[in-house]
Amino acid sequence: MEKKVFKNEIPKPTKEEKELVKAALDGMANAYAPYSGYTVGAAVRTSDGKIFNGCNIENAAYSPCICAERTALFKAVSEGHRSFASIAVCGGKGGRIKGVFPPCGVCRQVLREFCSTDMPVLLIKSKTTFERTTLGELLPMSFSPADIDK
Ligand code: THU
Repeated sequence: MEKKVFKNEIPKPTKEEKELVKAALDGMANAYAPYSGYTVGAAVRTSDGKIFNGCNIENAAYSPCICAERTALFKAVSEGHRSFASIAVCGGKGGRIKGVFPPCGVCRQVLREFCSTDMPVLLIKSKTTFERTTLGELLPMSFSPADIDK
């Protein structure tokens, strides 16, 4: 029998969602965060079903740090993908997840370059639970490529 995980979610998590959450958790394990101590993981699913994950990568000069969401997205874009179905994100101090770790404003804007406002965003709350939101909820009245072409 399949192990029961992802309790308390309505509707029930799909196989695809569980897979994306696992990829984000795996990404978090690779985080390089010696300065803040916050390890973050993210995973994007392309519209053709491929998953790319990423982690935050910090730097002694601080400002060149990159977030997990952008690492995951840029990995996918640099492999030729420009259309995305969903993203999952997790993070916490010292590798412990104690509630959602929502994407920063810069990452929301970078996601908007390639993703529609109705794209699902899974905010991981614990190793076995997550909340669903959308990019549009996280970035209302967004500035997107369509606004450049007016
Ligand atoms: N961080 C992310 O990876 N994603 C976010 O959306 C928010 C912040 C990282 C950056 C830094 O390495 C650490 O979390 C603390 O801000």
